[in-house]
Amino acid sequence: MADEDIREAAPAALASDDADVEVEEGATPVAELDPETRARRDAALRQVRKLGDPVLRASALPVDRFDDALRAEIERMGELMGDALGIGLAATQIGVLHRVLVYRSDPEDPLTALVNPVLEWSSEETEIASEGCLSIPFVHVDVERPAAVRVRARDARGEQLEVQASGLTARVIQHEMDHLDGVLMIDRIPREERKEAMRAMREAQREASLA
Ligand code: NI
Repeated sequence: MADEDIREAAPAALASDDADVEVEEGATPVAELDPETRARRDAALRQVRKLGDPVLRASALPVDRFDDALRAEIERMGELMGDALGIGLAATQIGVLHRVLVYRSDPEDPLTALVNPVLEWSSEETEIASEGCLSIPFVHVDVERPAAVRVRARDARGEQLEVQASGLTARVIQHEMDHLDGVLMIDRIPREERKEAMRAMREAQREASLA
């Protein structure tokens, strides 16, 4: 799988054996997950808001209190993301309208949390790569985005933070920052492709429900 793919798997419980189910890069294919990992993943995915939920279209509000509650929220997001085998998660995806996102684009890296992230710079050079979203099961779309970004944010303790990223990390950050403004990856592709992706999603859901 290419480095630049952002894949989030369909819920394992809904996936038929021959369904084209792909996991986010680096993760084990769903079919090969042990029962415990699958169960944990399914439980996590049930807590993630899905396409059609109006909260995904809401704009999140800046965080002004860097307290224990915020740190608990970030910790929970990191756990959920890990359990769901995702590489990024925005607070809006669990129904919390805070400008908070977490990501871990390399399994070796520690979890990064960005609070109140602001895009300071993005490269003119763009890249097209496949993305998935925990909130949009079964759908993978090619999205064009700036290849590199610089983002200013605060960490869980309120310390200033500047992140310069390229490649997959830049893509994940942009995808999650979009969530904070109620923007989804399917908004970033041509209308015809969006229709096709939605058709594929309905088809996969129908097949899964018959499996
Ligand atoms: Ni997403």
